[in-house]
Amino acid sequence: MKSPAPARRLPDSAEPAPPSTLIIFGASGDLTKRLLMPALYNLAREKSLDPAFEVIGVDHIERSEDEFRTYLTKSMQALVSEGGGEFEAKALDMEAWNWIAGRLGYLAGDFEDPETYRRLGERLDKRAGESGHSNAVFYLATAPRFFGMVSEQLGDAGLIKETEQGFRRIVIEKPFGSDLASAEALNRRILKVAGESQLYRIDHFLGKETVQNIMVLRFANGFFEPLWNRDHIDHVQITAAETVGVEHRGRFYEATGALKDMVPNHMFQLLAMTAMEAPNSFGADAVRSEKAKVIEAVRRWSPEEAVKNSVRGQYDAGTVRGQPVRPYTKEPDVSPDSNTETYVALKLMIDNWRWAGVPFYIRTGKSMSVRRTEIAIQFKRAPSILFRDTPAGMPDPNLLVFRIQPSEGVSLRFAAKVPGRTVRLGEVDMDFSYSDYFAAEPSTGYETLIYDCLIGDPTLFQRADNIEAGWSAVQPFLDSWAQAGDGVHLYKSGGSGPTAADALMKRDGRAWLPLNPGA
Ligand code: BG6
Repeated sequence: MKSPAPARRLPDSAEPAPPSTLIIFGASGDLTKRLLMPALYNLAREKSLDPAFEVIGVDHIERSEDEFRTYLTKSMQALVSEGGGEFEAKALDMEAWNWIAGRLGYLAGDFEDPETYRRLGERLDKRAGESGHSNAVFYLATAPRFFGMVSEQLGDAGLIKETEQGFRRIVIEKPFGSDLASAEALNRRILKVAGESQLYRIDHFLGKETVQNIMVLRFANGFFEPLWNRDHIDHVQITAAETVGVEHRGRFYEATGALKDMVPNHMFQLLAMTAMEAPNSFGADAVRSEKAKVIEAVRRWSPEEAVKNSVRGQYDAGTVRGQPVRPYTKEPDVSPDSNTETYVALKLMIDNWRWAGVPFYIRTGKSMSVRRTEIAIQFKRAPSILFRDTPAGMPDPNLLVFRIQPSEGVSLRFAAKVPGRTVRLGEVDMDFSYSDYFAAEPSTGYETLIYDCLIGDPTLFQRADNIEAGWSAVQPFLDSWAQAGDGVHLYKSGGSGPTAADALMKRDGRAWLPLNPGA
């Protein structure tokens, strides 16, 4: 069914964002070099930034602006030569990189010291005098414990106050809180110094083209919506399987685990995009209200039900992509008797009119056989009466799969007649791959998010109620695990997760889609 349209470069016609200064707190951190700089570089290549755009890195390391530029130039070159990360460039376009590098400044300072903010303020004022604008975005690419404090310091120094000369916005990374109470407390703290419209809480899954596309597929096509409900859908499976382990993030991960790391944020974004009602418009509040509503409708299980409807797993030794992998408990900065989960499977119900009785199964894990993020919609089986006296047997249910990553696309599985004189059914796939139709430039996903923040479009960012709804929906699992002291099921690295997760589905007469079809 492939009849590809001519490849086209994306994005097509984005105007350059208004002149602004991006202040990155945590300028020497991993996020800055691995994702933010590549994203700014990609935006520079696309000419989506204003000539008066500027970056100021803030961090405690004492170094000159030249040293900062050299550090980032080297890290960009290393990303290109090492490959394999989110930044897929084959070579560094020096014109684009020099464009960014020439706009990089640095301010050494302690995040806890008001003097840092006073000096930053002076710099922004000086710049406003020279350029005529005072637009500033403060990007908190720091450890989460600094989110509240840096915001308050910015507020105390008067840096968040917007004037006719410019906007002031704060971008806050994840994890936003570590449970419902801490997320609410952080929201209260930050909202004392900034208005909701100035806050851009990041969930980088929303920067992925394919995640944004779920809404377009659902609402720009007439044929999905009439089927998109409990009358036609049997269940939904959402998978985010990763081949990587915890890498160098053992300390963070020990305190976090797969549930907090992936579910209230990324997995719920996928769930919300799939299950939400059509918003009244593409307006930021219309979209975010519908997302909050559907996550609020996720049933809060009782403690017993939460234990019954969840499976925690932890990777053991094994082989991933041909490489031996050590058990999670032998990873650096991980306790040898750790009970932290690196895999979680949940059964969720959405208690609203559209989804009553339709289970949403979600699973995410590290050190698995493949990297795959997808949403699979399994439809109800067609009546098989017609085929009862034939060798065809029962037709399998139709399956619609949104592939988020890698090999982004959509496929629809249905039954067809196997050629021959008897009636036999074969399963076939109608498959759409993005790469067949669109030649997108390499992107880390952060380009869209940074650009949207600069132009003041918060649609792809989490509002306070979105964040709190996510935490509130996973809180029963956190509470019941804490009470039940529920252990983790070991699973072999390079496999499909613990067998207990298969039992969770089997109990309902269902099965996970294989991670390695045909293997
Ligand atoms: C991050 C998690 O938010 O998302 C990581 O902290 C996870 O543990 C990552 O690996 C997955 O994102 P992506 O874009 O690689 O699918």
